[in-house]
Amino acid sequence: MSETISLKINDNNLELPVVTGTEDEKGIDISKLRAETGYVTLDRGFKNTGATTSAITYLDGEKGVLRYRGYAIEELASKSSFVEVIYLLIYGHLPSHDELETFRWTVRRHTLVHEDMKKFFDGFPSKSHPMGQLSALVGALSAFYPESLNPNATDEEENLTIIKMLAKMPTIVSWIYKKSLGHPIVYPSNNLDYVTNFINMTFGQRTEDIDINPVAVSAMNTLLILHADHEQNCSTSTVRIVGSSNANLFASISAGISALWGPLHGGANQAVIEMLEKIKDDGGDCDKWINKAKDKNDPFRLMGFGHRVYKNFDPRAKIIKKACDEVLDKLGIDDPVLEIAKKLEAAALNDQYFVDRKLYPNVDFYSGIIYRALGFPTEMFTVLFALGRLPGWIAQWKEMRTNKEPIGRPRQIYTGETERSYVDISNR
Ligand code: CMC
Repeated sequence: MSETISLKINDNNLELPVVTGTEDEKGIDISKLRAETGYVTLDRGFKNTGATTSAITYLDGEKGVLRYRGYAIEELASKSSFVEVIYLLIYGHLPSHDELETFRWTVRRHTLVHEDMKKFFDGFPSKSHPMGQLSALVGALSAFYPESLNPNATDEEENLTIIKMLAKMPTIVSWIYKKSLGHPIVYPSNNLDYVTNFINMTFGQRTEDIDINPVAVSAMNTLLILHADHEQNCSTSTVRIVGSSNANLFASISAGISALWGPLHGGANQAVIEMLEKIKDDGGDCDKWINKAKDKNDPFRLMGFGHRVYKNFDPRAKIIKKACDEVLDKLGIDDPVLEIAKKLEAAALNDQYFVDRKLYPNVDFYSGIIYRALGFPTEMFTVLFALGRLPGWIAQWKEMRTNKEPIGRPRQIYTGETERSYVDISNR
């Protein structure tokens, strides 16, 4: 017999079904609660609320486990390429050799963006934040590719939109970087793989070919894989909820990019480097900054620390910390903020405040140091997070549509004025 939970409200006894996941996670299905009792649940920040069932990513925050489609993040980061992980997340299995080649070839055929989109770059102020540009440009794709707007598209048509989104994103991201420098854009080279092509468009010049450092390609692959999905986080939930109104993929992803921008979410990678620089310029006294983070009257938080779900080491942070040492070593870079980051981490991990609250370094703590070593300016970091998260957003959007999920529309408990009479302006 399937498990139920009894809920007693006044004199009513309600049997609520329990939904059990493949990893034995349990959720109480309250979908009939309001209809049968008149009550709703209240859970600010959705700390206890499962918004959906999903077969894409599993994470156990207590044990520090993260898996995409059943594969451990540690294995994917060390053995796979970003393109393989894109395929895995979106289509549900690791591609065969032929599937991978077909997929690579298909994506390459769509890397160009409509020429008129270049005019946007003339309109943005030269110092505008790359994330503002990215969300506007991705939203604008829906204007340039209107065939992608049909909410009743066939699977084949929907897949073509997915391919276009994947193919055009690196082109757009690299052009945003070129705009920040005032340099001419570099067009995609379809003889290059996804990540190498992105690096070539970003750091290449129209005037000469560049040697692409395999260390940079390998580091980018690792970082993009680590960011590729993270189940129902703020930006992914945004993508799913926007898509649930039948909004097109470009509009849904654009909304996800805006959600990612905040410093409590993806914007933390930029905020971490800015914080480390500030600590360095201030003399490098980590204890002083740890005390500031603990002071409830001070708005400062230790950026890159803490996580809604991980109450143990973020497995991505462990991989990134190791990669950070390796990449800087291979590139011969000595970045003083790396030492500060390590000192800060050690001080926090030994401090009772952080121990009691189970606050550990998260994915953003060391990633910026690698991006910086590769030559990216700080303001581009969150855009790189978005580039990595794109396949996760797409996979979640596609799953939401395949499962025919209803439009997302939470309830509320109204706490405003009760009905009152309108007072004419002459009497106010
Ligand atoms: N520095 C100092 N105190 C912290 C921090 C921090 N970074 N993070 C949490 N706390 C404290 C918080 O003040 C609270 O203390 P108390 O119980 O005394 O009121 C307690 O720990 C629980 O924090 P919370 O804000 O209720 O936890 P949350 O799950 O709502 O927030 C978080 C999670 C990630 C927003 C938060 O830890 C934070 O602001 N971290 C810094 C920003 C950051 O690094 N964000 C990137 C997250 S990982 C990448 C991603 O997926 O986006």
